[in-house]
Amino acid sequence: MKIVRLAHETDFGGWRRAARALRSAGVSPEAVAWTAGEQAQLGEEVTVADGDCAFPVPREFVELARDVVLHRDPARFALLYRLLWRLRNEPGLMHVATDADVARAMELRKGVERAAYRLKQYVRFREVEDDKGAAYVAWIEPEHRVLARAAPFFVERFANMRWAVLTPDACASWDGEALSFSPGVSREEAPADDAQEDVWRAYFAATFNPARLKVKAMTAQMPKSLWRNLPEAQVIPRLIQQAATRAETMVGAPHTEPSKRTARAVARSVRDGTFDDAYVPTSVADVWTAVQACRRCDLWRDATQGVAGEGPARAALMFVGEQPGDQEDLAGKPFIGPAGQMFDKALAEAGVPRAETYVTNAVKHFKHEPRGKRRIHAKPNVGEIRACRWWLENERRLVRPKVIVALGATAGQAVFDRPVSVSKDRGHPFDLGDAQGLITVHPAYLLRLPSHEDRARAWKLFVADLRAAWELAGGSHAEGASSGA
Ligand code: URA
Repeated sequence: MKIVRLAHETDFGGWRRAARALRSAGVSPEAVAWTAGEQAQLGEEVTVADGDCAFPVPREFVELARDVVLHRDPARFALLYRLLWRLRNEPGLMHVATDADVARAMELRKGVERAAYRLKQYVRFREVEDDKGAAYVAWIEPEHRVLARAAPFFVERFANMRWAVLTPDACASWDGEALSFSPGVSREEAPADDAQEDVWRAYFAATFNPARLKVKAMTAQMPKSLWRNLPEAQVIPRLIQQAATRAETMVGAPHTEPSKRTARAVARSVRDGTFDDAYVPTSVADVWTAVQACRRCDLWRDATQGVAGEGPARAALMFVGEQPGDQEDLAGKPFIGPAGQMFDKALAEAGVPRAETYVTNAVKHFKHEPRGKRRIHAKPNVGEIRACRWWLENERRLVRPKVIVALGATAGQAVFDRPVSVSKDRGHPFDLGDAQGLITVHPAYLLRLPSHEDRARAWKLFVADLRAAWELAGGSHAEGASSGA
C-alpha cells in the first residue's frame, strides 16, 4: 500500500501532483491510501514529485476535483483518484450521471456549494474595537472547508471594513488591502454577543408562527451546526418546544369583539344616519368609534373591527403604516404584532417615545385571504387606499402633526396621494401643505431581507430615519388627551 500525505485538508495542488505521478507510474486506486495533515498511517509513504498523466484530463473533471476536495468526506481524495484512473479508458465518464463514482462526486460538489452559500448567508459580524478603530469579527462552523472559496465574496462586499471570519478549520482576515489566512481557532476566541443581536432574537421569536412549524424545512434551510452561531436561532429550540401549545391557543382563540361602547355608538350612528359623507369626526376618539361603521370599501366585511390611530390627540409626529395585521385586527390597536414590536425597538433605539407620537395606518381594516385556519395578509389596492384616505385626512386635521412619516410604499401612496418610491424619495422632507412628509421602509421589510448584513444596514438606516423625523418634528408635542383606543 502506498500512502500519500497531503499538506492539508484542502491541498488540491498536492493531490493533483501526487495523482499524476501515481497515474503515470500505473499505481491502481486500490493500492493508494490518502491522508492529509498529521494523521499516522502504516505503509510506504510516497514522495510526491511532479508527474504527467500522459492522457488528456477533461477540464470539467479538474473543476469538479477543486470543489470536491473542500468536502469533509474522508474518502474524497480516493474517489477523485479512482475517477482519474478510470478516465483513461472511459473518456466520456464525466457525462455518465448514473455512474456511482460520478454521482458521488457530484453529490459532494453540491454539498460544498451549499456550504459556501450558507457561509455567506449566515455569517454574523460583531463589531470590536482595537487600536486602529472598529473591526468586524464573525465566528461560524461551516459544514465543509469552504472559507477560502467564500472569502472573496466578503472582500468585495466589505472592501472598506477591516474584518475577520473565524472557523475551526481556518481564519480569513481582510485589513482593507490584503486578504490573509491563518489556522483555525476555537469558538471561545470569537467575540461574544452584542446588543443588536437581542433585536433579531426578539423579532424572530415574535414572527415565528407555530402553526407553520416544519422542523425539517427549517433545518434544511439552516443546518444545526449554523444555528448555534446565529443569535436569532438561539430561540429555536424553545420555540419548537412551545409550538404545539401555542398553535392550539392560536387556532382556538376567538376573535375579540369590538367593545360594547363602540358597538353601541356605531349602531347608533348607522341607525341615525349620522354616519354618511357629511359626518365629520370632532376628535380622534370619534374617528376610532366611527371607523367601525365605515363602508367606504368592502374590507370591513372580513375584518374583526376597524383599527384607527392611537396616540395623543395632538402630536408633532405621526407615523402611517399600511394596514392592521392579524393581531392588530383582533386587538383593535395599530402596530402591536411582530412588525409593531420591531417598530417599537427601532423607536426606542432612535430615542423616540412612541407614546408621544400618533401611530395609524393608511387602511383601517385588515385585508387578508384565508389559508386553512390562517388569515394571510393581502396588500390593499389603490382604490382601497383612496377610499380610506378620508380617515387619514381627518386624523391629520385633528392631530395636526408637523411631520408625517409614511412607513413603506402603501403608506406613501396614502400620505402623498401619489405613487412614491422608498428608495428614491427617502431622506428628505416633502411639503404637504399641512405638514412635512417623509418616507422610510416599513418595519416588516427588515425581516424579509435575507442576509444579516443587509438587515443590519437597513436597521441602521431605519433608526436614523426615525431619529431624523423626531428631530424635524421638534421632538415635542402639544398637550392632549389620549385617543379612545
Ligand atoms: N403593519 C402595518 O402596516 N400596520 C400595523 O398596524 C401592523 C402591521
